[in-house]
This record gives sequence, C-alpha cells and structure tokens, in this order.
Amino acid sequence: MKKILVTGGAGYIGSHAVVELYQAGYQPVIVDNFSNSEESVLAGIESILGVAVPTYRVDCADEAALRGVFEAEPNIAGVIHFAAFKAVGESVQKPLAYFQNNVGSLLTLLAVMPEFGVENLVFSSSCTVYGIPDALPVTEATPTKPASSPYGRTKQMCEEIIHDVSGAPDNKLRTILLRYFNPIGAHDSAKIGELPLGVPNNLVPFITQTAAGIREKLTIFGNDYDTPDGTNIRDYIHVVDLAKAHIVAVQRLLDHKADETVETFNVGTGNGNTVLDVVQTFEKASGQKLNYVIGPRRPGDVPAIYADATKAEQVLGFKTETSLADSLASAWKWQQTLKK
Ligand SMILES: NC(=O)c1ccc[n+]([C@@H]2O[C@H](COP(=O)([O-])OP(=O)(O)OC[C@H]3O[C@@H](n4cnc5c(N)ncnc54)[C@H](O)[C@@H]3O)[C@@H](O)[C@H]2O)c1
Repeated sequence: MKKILVTGGAGYIGSHAVVELYQAGYQPVIVDNFSNSEESVLAGIESILGVAVPTYRVDCADEAALRGVFEAEPNIAGVIHFAAFKAVGESVQKPLAYFQNNVGSLLTLLAVMPEFGVENLVFSSSCTVYGIPDALPVTEATPTKPASSPYGRTKQMCEEIIHDVSGAPDNKLRTILLRYFNPIGAHDSAKIGELPLGVPNNLVPFITQTAAGIREKLTIFGNDYDTPDGTNIRDYIHVVDLAKAHIVAVQRLLDHKADETVETFNVGTGNGNTVLDVVQTFEKASGQKLNYVIGPRRPGDVPAIYADATKAEQVLGFKTETSLADSLASAWKWQQTLKK
C-alpha cells in the first residue's frame, strides 16, 4: 500500500479523503493539530474502515514536529495538504492568524518534504482565488482577481509559492492544485460529516442545525445581489465526490502522468445554485420547514461563482455523481446522528 500523508485529515474534507484513500488501496497517515476538529472523527473513520488510521497530533507549522512525522513514517509517496483555517468571515477578523497558519504550514511542509525525497503534493485550493470573476462559469484559465478576503489571499499566495518553488532549479516537486467549490453533505454511513466547532460559518451546517432546533433561525446574508433571486450563487459539491477527486489526483502524480510540474483543476459540479435554491431543496429533501430571515451582506462574500468542470473531466476523468438533493439529504442524515 502506498503511503499518503494527509495533513488536516481529521477535518471535514480530509476525513472523507482518508476513507476514500484507504478504500482505493492507499495507506493514509493523518497529521492534524485538532484546532478545528475532534478526535471522535478518528473513531468514525475506524468504524467505516474497520482499521485505525495512524494519526499524529502535530501542528504542520511546527517544523521539528512535522519532520518527526516523516521520520516515523518512512516511504511517504505523496502528501495531500488540507490543513488550514477556512472561514472567510473569520479571516476578515483575524487575518494574521490566517496568514500564519495557512501560509506557514505550507512553507514548513515544502521545506520538509524534499528532506525525505517526497515529491508529490495535492494542495487544497479554493474557488476564492478567482475573487469576483468577470464571467461565469470560471475555468482554470479565468484570471484571478484580488481575493475578497484574507482567507482567499492565503490560497492565492499558497498557489504562487508552489509555482515558485516548483520552478526553482533542481526542484523535483510535482503538485496538483485542486480548486474546490463548496463541499456539502456527509458520508453515506453518517459516521463522518461536517463537524463545525461553535456557530457554523457555512450554509449547509447552519441549515441542518436550524432544522434540528439547535439554531433558532437561518440568516441569509443579502438578497440584493445581481442573481435571479438576489441571493449568492455557489457550486455545491458532495464531499465524497470531492474526496474522490483527490484519489485520481494522487494516482496521476504517482503515475507521472502530469503534463506540468504544477497542474490546476476546478473541482465542482458545474452548476450554480442560489442560497434560496438550497433552502428549498433542503426543505423538500428533508421534509423540514426552515425558519429563515434575510440579513445584511456578509463581508468577504463574492456575489456568484460556479465552476466550469470540463478540465477535470477531460484530463482526470473526474465527474461528480451526487445531486444537490441527495447531498442535502446526506447532510440531514448526519445532523440527526449528531442529535442522538
Ligand atoms: N470546506 C470548504 O468550504 C472549503 C472550500 C475550499 C477549500 N477548502 C480547503 O480545504 C481544506 C480542508 O477544509 P475543511 O473544510 O476540511 O476544513 P476543516 O477545518 O474541517 O479541516 C482542516 C483540518 O486541518 C486541521 N488544521 C488546521 N491547521 C492545522 C495545522 N497548522 N496543523 C495541523 N492541522 C491543522 C484542523 O484541525 C482540521 O482538522 C482547507 O485547506 C480549506 O481551506 C475548504
């Protein structure tokens, strides 16, 4: 089994990727400092897989500690780097923490990987790198615009750092940058899913917590955008579909099939849905009526964005499989598990 180091592997997307990696025949190794996740996630993964996944409680920005993981786990074939802070709104409040953690952890990783001859990297980027695009849908060739938040800027900077490091003489790093759109939903087993600590920043956990009576009401941030119903448009991708994109990306790197030292792919469904679409689809899929109000716009939110997903389909052979309704139903099933 080829060993893949998964930083942030206890997080929302990372935990689903760990499951898919193992089921695809890889040996995942998790590195996480649990700054935005709980150890109970590890039990969920173990319960799905029937085996425990080796896990290190380490901060990726701590070079000595990260080096210790590479020493303890020889022959790592590649790294998937999920570890980062991810809340757009929070990044506006705490920009320095976002630069320190997101850029700092990447720099440390890039310094340590070559010491151990590890050359393959899949990096968690984001559609936030496009800023407010001129045209939709966005392709990988769509020029990036100034990011709307410090979070988005950390992803732009990380992409540029990876390009620069890859371009240096004698550098052997090969990277696939995956620009995720909006992951939602949970594993079919409802043993892992999104586990926001405190008040959720993302729409779907807020919806499910409201439906479950944990939150009194959902606030929709603005209905005066230039979209069909005035609410934000996003491209919602089921988290297991997204996790599977990492398997094809890792395989492509290990097979030396990449055309360039850094390749970039959008990972989305190719469909844009408004917030109100999501609310209504959730109500139908769950049979729950949602209490929601319209509030002011939220700083850092771009009006509308969705993917042109053609490149991932043509080059990686990757296509999403799960509908919005099924994705939301899986999120609701997971929420009900949490209530018990
Ligand atoms: N969820 C989204 O909407 C979304 C969209 C686009 C991109 N992304 C990116 O995908 C990645 C994973 O996102 P997620 O939704 O799973 O987030 P998450 O917060 O659930 O998972 C991130 C994990 O990384 C860990 N972590 C954070 N900083 C760390 C550090 N310095 N050292 C070790 N562990 C650390 C956290 O404890 C957490 O378990 C992030 O890079 C995020 O920016 C997420």
